[in-house]
Amino acid sequence: MPKTYKIAILPGDGTGPEVIKEGIKVIETAAKKNSFKFDFTNYDIGGSRYLKTGEILPDSVIEEFKKFDAMYLGAIGHPDVKPGILEKGILLKLRFELEQYINLRPVKLYPNVETPLKNKEPEDIDMIIVRENTEGLYTGAGGFLKKDTLQEVAIQESINTRFGVERCIRYAFELTKKRAKNNKLTLCGKTNVLTYASDLWQRTFNVVAKEYPQVKGNYVNVDAACMWFVKNPEWFDVVVTDNLFGDIITDLAAMIQGGMGIAAGGNINPEGVSMFEPMGGSAPKYTGLNIINPIATINAGAMMLETIGESKAAKDIDNAVIKALESGKIKSMSAGKMGLSTTEVGDLIASLI
Ligand code: IPM
Ligand code: MN
Repeated sequence: MPKTYKIAILPGDGTGPEVIKEGIKVIETAAKKNSFKFDFTNYDIGGSRYLKTGEILPDSVIEEFKKFDAMYLGAIGHPDVKPGILEKGILLKLRFELEQYINLRPVKLYPNVETPLKNKEPEDIDMIIVRENTEGLYTGAGGFLKKDTLQEVAIQESINTRFGVERCIRYAFELTKKRAKNNKLTLCGKTNVLTYASDLWQRTFNVVAKEYPQVKGNYVNVDAACMWFVKNPEWFDVVVTDNLFGDIITDLAAMIQGGMGIAAGGNINPEGVSMFEPMGGSAPKYTGLNIINPIATINAGAMMLETIGESKAAKDIDNAVIKALESGKIKSMSAGKMGLSTTEVGDLIASLI
């Protein structure tokens, strides 16, 4: 009997369904080649569903997700829904409730992909960012006083627990060791100003570092990290940081690797169910045109296979993406400029597995 993995599919909004279709095509091809199977279950979750039914994400569905091997997401976001509702009601709720405490973002410049950085080659841009995914400024702690008056006060608190910080840092050390590239782990914070939050991160980092003598630990302030990502991305191997800093630097990092068309991420619970997604959003203006780039979603699919234990299949997908890019048939990473349709890019990559 071939091994069967239960995967929850969340196509979502906008171009989400188009890219997830290509992702499924590619992971199914890789599964066939490596003799395993998928049992997919579709979930209609997102802005369109919310506008139709008023329902965002029922608790019963979160319980169902816990029974899957992994989750595969297209995109969540709708121009007619007020900012914050879907983000907090779906994306953050999933991260928090499913304890997906790591946001993992590989940043790799593939061959033939244009980077806005001058004189940088694929060997210069190859790092992984480990972002804490359940704490910091994202918990929603805080509130208003005297709302809508001239004396209004808004407080948004950054929550950093020793437990939460330590499990994230430990994950990053393990990953750096396993990756065995430069054995270098950079803590990114703001110790010169955030003398409580960043201090806790720094002290925890120093304690955990003692267990990993083979990993060289170092530190960078987040503002300087933005500078060095642009000037000397080759300095970085694995970077670990808090939730908001991670949100910001991973968008910067996505741009230096060629943009949202290619950048993938995982919301990881190392002990539970994880969710994989392209970094780009629902791209309403490209919806239904078959011109959006599915490579980010395909890369997210490879990350998903790696995480569930199918490393060989993940590698097959990565190699196929590299071959497809090397073929020169894909002219750009931007929607509408690829020279091929969304479906054709999916077909090309699947054919190279
Ligand atoms: C991301 C996104 C989310 C975040 C939003 C959509 C809530 O920007 O995954 O980086 O801020 O984490
Ligand atoms: Mn973001």
